[in-house]
Amino acid sequence: MKNILITGCAKGLGLETSKMLAKAGYKVLGVSRTPTDDYEKVKLEHPNSVFFYQFDFYNVKGISALVKQITKEHGRIFGLINNAAIGHDGVLATMHESDISSLLKVNVEAPILLTKYVSRSMLLNRKGRIINVGSIIGSTGFNGLSVYGATKSALTGFTKSLARELGKSQITVNTLAPGYMETNMTNGLIGDKLEKIKRRSCLGRLATIKDGASMMLYILSEDAAGITGTTFTVDAGSTA
Ligand SMILES: NC(=O)c1ccc[n+]([C@@H]2O[C@H](COP(=O)([O-])OP(=O)(O)OC[C@H]3O[C@@H](n4cnc5c(N)ncnc54)[C@H](OP(=O)(O)O)[C@@H]3O)[C@@H](O)[C@H]2O)c1
Repeated sequence: MKNILITGCAKGLGLETSKMLAKAGYKVLGVSRTPTDDYEKVKLEHPNSVFFYQFDFYNVKGISALVKQITKEHGRIFGLINNAAIGHDGVLATMHESDISSLLKVNVEAPILLTKYVSRSMLLNRKGRIINVGSIIGSTGFNGLSVYGATKSALTGFTKSLARELGKSQITVNTLAPGYMETNMTNGLIGDKLEKIKRRSCLGRLATIKDGASMMLYILSEDAAGITGTTFTVDAGSTA
């Protein structure tokens, strides 16, 4: 059974991906800040293959110990999905410095540190998959999301160089860049804004968490062993 460590597993895209991973026979090592009934249900349905670690990625100093604990309990990790992120929005000029700093810590520093420690077991295995969840905002733009956008394009840059570094060991590193999906993160986008985004997309709808999760499963599969250093945009055609 292949071990997949997924962050932000308890809600939204992370939850849907965890469900699909469990169904597909992976061992799911989910890490998130707040436990949810929905994730608990997935755990109950797959008692031997779905696990939960409560951790706040703002605590970057604890990441090394977290990885040590998980690998001690479950063995080497095949796949890492850096999915947890916060989506604080706001006009830069009036944004609190503490919000800027949290965005950088949770969305950039934490996934880089987590990847640093998890990649060690992948290097020993000489195989592995790393998926960094970016966003179309990292390459397009949206009023009020400049700092969030900066964190998401940082991950794209991280993906590209790390793919070069780890490729020799048959470890792939890719970015999944979703478009708008209806989750907690986009709760604030209501009515007109959401309708506009739908109208502008090729398919006349938003991307769904199922669209995003299906792409995660493809990237983790043997069929995708030859694809690295790239961005998979899953946005119902919003940026076409
Ligand atoms: N939704 C969209 O439209 C959209 C579009 C493009 C990209 N994305 C990206 O897709 C990914 C998933 O987003 P989503 O829409 O599924 O968001 P979501 O519904 O808010 O879920 C995010 C998950 O990450 C966890 N998380 C957040 N901060 C954390 C922290 N400091 N430590 C540990 N866990 C933390 C959350 O836990 P808590 O409940 O405790 O906060 C939650 O379980 C993110 O990387 C996001 O940037 C989303």
